[in-house]
Amino acid sequence: MLKIDLTGAAEFFDGAGLDCAAAAEAHRVLASRTGAGGAFTGWLDLPARMENGELNRILAAAQNIQRQGEVLLVVGIGGSYLGARAAIELLRTPSHNELPGATAVYFLGNTLSPDAVNELIAVLGDRDFCVNVISKSGGTLEPALGFRVAKALLQQKYGRNGAKKRIYVTTDANKGILHDIAVSEGYERFTVPDDVGGRFSVLSAVGLLPMAVAGIDVEAVLSAAARELMDLDLRSPENPAWQYAAARQHLYRRGKSIELLACYEPSFRYMAEWWKQLFGESEGKNGIGIYPASLEYNADLHSMGQYIQDGPRTLMETVVRFERPAGSCKVPFVMGDPDGLNYLAGRELFEIQQIAADAVKTAHISGGVPNIVLSVPQRDEAGFAALVCFFEMSCAISAYMSGVNPFDQPGVEEYKKNMFRQLQAL
Ligand code: PA5
Repeated sequence: MLKIDLTGAAEFFDGAGLDCAAAAEAHRVLASRTGAGGAFTGWLDLPARMENGELNRILAAAQNIQRQGEVLLVVGIGGSYLGARAAIELLRTPSHNELPGATAVYFLGNTLSPDAVNELIAVLGDRDFCVNVISKSGGTLEPALGFRVAKALLQQKYGRNGAKKRIYVTTDANKGILHDIAVSEGYERFTVPDDVGGRFSVLSAVGLLPMAVAGIDVEAVLSAAARELMDLDLRSPENPAWQYAAARQHLYRRGKSIELLACYEPSFRYMAEWWKQLFGESEGKNGIGIYPASLEYNADLHSMGQYIQDGPRTLMETVVRFERPAGSCKVPFVMGDPDGLNYLAGRELFEIQQIAADAVKTAHISGGVPNIVLSVPQRDEAGFAALVCFFEMSCAISAYMSGVNPFDQPGVEEYKKNMFRQLQAL
């Protein structure tokens, strides 16, 4: 299980302390699946269900896609792409697409920018490719248009029948426009489970197929996630998900309305984007909710550091730290010591990063920013699973503690309806 350190937040807790009783009740409601949105709690046992369900077909399709070409275009938006992108960047590197021998994974259907679409087509060039279109509802405009573009490219290159063999659809098992198209065209289909909402779906085919294509060991992810979810079912104040949820709610009620999620690994960037959707869509409703923002340290210390240290005192900070780097990188010795840094020569960059992180933590706390640290052993499949399960669990508990339904997104639906209304008037 991931470790949580609340010592940097404790001095901002008032006498009442953390409301573990409320966390316990929220956990009870979640686990009994009787709370608001209880029909969307299938993610609680999703890893085990995947292991006994679609996993083998996902692995076979991933191999097929790798054999069929050098590129997979993933078409999806929100929960239908962020988790896969997060996993690929965290576990394979943000430069995955340039790694020798890798099947490149590009993302389409999350923008209406003509320039971005044209740039992606130019990057694709004349390479052989497949498409995985992902949409739970099957009717979201951005991916639907992205799919039109991708399908036209496929048909141009491979003809109608050739294109069919290169299209993989992930959508509802029984309904929706995309489901109907897939059935009538005979595309290979994967399921977004009925009882799992988009932002909780990364451990279904939604995330697993692109991850497997990118070379991630999805079986290891699922078995680690199954263990994590069992551990996180602990009904005790020791549960890190209770502590995180209770600390966030406590601080929010005391004016800390913005949470900064920071990490010292650039490969964490899309994990933070995934986290923002998870918490933003789950908690921001009925006029309340912590605003989730993200930062990439050290880079952002030199752009946002001033604001964090000295701006409005509405911030809390959660820092994800990996306990071990994947490899060694030492500071080189330079003859003559022109920059005066030879006292660091031979030191591991990781050691210096840790000291910098401790220094930042102390400074931010002294500036009035409560600090929560989440530690994960390593940037590997088990670490990814630990982060996903921890955040999903604590998000649901935190949302129930604040009295909202974690599993709906009426605001997003509202925008979708408005956009279609205006487009149909064209
Ligand atoms: O969390 C959610 O449910 C949403 O953010 C969806 O992931 C997003 O709107 C995409 O929807 P769909 O998968 O239906 O195309």
